[in-house]
Amino acid sequence: MKLNKSVSRKNLFLLLLDGCLLAGFWLLNQVRLTGIAIHEWAGVALAFVLLLHVGMLWRWITNMFRKFLRVRNAVQYFKLALDIFGFIAFFAIIISGILMSRSFLPALGLSGVHSRSLKMIHVLATNATIAMLMLHLLVNLKGIIRMMTRSRRIHEREKSASGELSGGVDPAGLG
Ligand code: HEM
Repeated sequence: MKLNKSVSRKNLFLLLLDGCLLAGFWLLNQVRLTGIAIHEWAGVALAFVLLLHVGMLWRWITNMFRKFLRVRNAVQYFKLALDIFGFIAFFAIIISGILMSRSFLPALGLSGVHSRSLKMIHVLATNATIAMLMLHLLVNLKGIIRMMTRSRRIHEREKSASGELSGGVDPAGLG
C-alpha cells in the first residue's frame, strides 16, 4: 500500500514535469513575446527540468537499454532511438543557445558568439525536438493513459479507505 502510494505520487510528479516541459517549450518558442532575457533564462531552467525528468526515470531507461540489447523488437528500437535523438536535439538547442547568448553568458562575465550558423542549428534543433516530442507522446500514449488511470484508481481507493476509517468504527476503540 505504502509502495503504491509513493509510485502514484512519483507518476503524478512525472506527469507534472511533462506538463512543465511542454508548456516551457511552447513559451520558449515565443521569443518575440517573452523577450530574449526571459527566453534564455527559461531555456536554461528547462534544461534542468529535463535532467530531473531523466534522473527520475533513470532506472526505467537503464532497464530499457538492457532489454533493448536482448530483445529485437522494432517498436522498442524506434522508441529508444526517438528518445536518444530527442535528447541530443534538445541539448543542441541549449548549447547553441548558450553559445550565442546575449543575456545568460554576459551575466556570467562572458560574451556570446553571434553567428548565423549557430542560429540555424538552434532553430533546426528546435524543430527536430518538437517533431520528436510529438512522436514520443504518440508512441507512449497508451502507457501514459494507463499510468493516469492507475494513479486515479489508487487515489480513489485511498480516499474511500480514509473515509471509512474516519466515518466508521473508531480505530482506537476509545469512542
Ligand atoms: C528548449 C529551449 C529553447 C527553445 C525551444 C528555443 C527556441 C528558439 C527559437 C525558435 C528562436 C528563433 C526566434 C526567431 O525567430 O528569431 C530562438 C532564438 C534565440 N535563442 Fe533560443 N531556444 C531555447 C533555449 C535557448 C537558450 C537556453 C538560450 C541561451 C541561453 C537561447 C538563446 C537564444 C538567442 C540568443 C536567440 C536569438 C538568436 C538571434 O536572433 O540572433 N535559447 N530560440
